[in-house]
Amino acid sequence: MNWIEKIEDNFSLIKKIVFVTGAGISHESGIPTFRGKDGLWRNHDAMKLATIDAFNENPQFVWEWYNERRKNIFESFPNKGHQAIAELQELFDVVVLTQNVDGLHKKAGSRNVYELHGDIITLRCTNCDFIEENFSEFSEFPPKCRCGSILRPNVVWFGESLPQQVWRNSIIHASESDLMIIVGTSLVVSPANTLPLIAKENGSILMEINPEKTEMSAEMDFSIQEKSAKFLPEFVNELKKIKSRK
Ligand code: APR
Repeated sequence: MNWIEKIEDNFSLIKKIVFVTGAGISHESGIPTFRGKDGLWRNHDAMKLATIDAFNENPQFVWEWYNERRKNIFESFPNKGHQAIAELQELFDVVVLTQNVDGLHKKAGSRNVYELHGDIITLRCTNCDFIEENFSEFSEFPPKCRCGSILRPNVVWFGESLPQQVWRNSIIHASESDLMIIVGTSLVVSPANTLPLIAKENGSILMEINPEKTEMSAEMDFSIQEKSAKFLPEFVNELKKIKSRK
């Protein structure tokens, strides 16, 4: 049975579709992945850039790297994959649980987005936790909060916990999903990589969209080796066709 037949057979039961996305969905927007062939962690030491210890040791160095990533992201736009997910929310209860910090799901119009690893757009004070929303360029490095302390990227670094409310809600949505689409993630980082198992335990159909197999491909009902910007519009069109036949 292929994925279209499986979804058609279960269509009346599919009310909530949950997407779990990673860097791969933004690859076709010009944003590098972390572990793919051009991946950021292939050319940089994550432990020297994406940990609180690295930041405390050399905030200037970490900020210069994040500022380069922010510039790339400010010049990027949602691709057909992000847009297809946003379009699907007109037909179903759609929730997006993303590991990405680029804000492209929201930019594409997705309304129910949970940013598991924070976002690179806003900045957070290392002292008073003030969130600075509008930093596009810096007059000084590292940027300072109005309280005088250093601002940091509002992302979750290795070894840090996910925002509690975001994680709690993500588990709930995963357990309530009737269909979970896992897009553009190597599924090697915890706890995000537990979400498909939570969904599966609760009877969800699992589909993985990734040009490469991942460590969890065997857990999927369907593992589709395609690029997301190509596959997701086709996926949404098929669901529209099935819905029109019902
Ligand atoms: N469409 C779909 N998938 C793609 C595409 C594409 N066009 N291009 C690449 N991919 C896949 C790659 O095959 C890879 O499996 O996207 C995946 C990206 O994996 P990673 O680079 O490991 O990114 P991700 O899974 O999001 O990393 C998780 O690790 O470093 C931390 O916090 C960082 O959120 C990140 C987390």
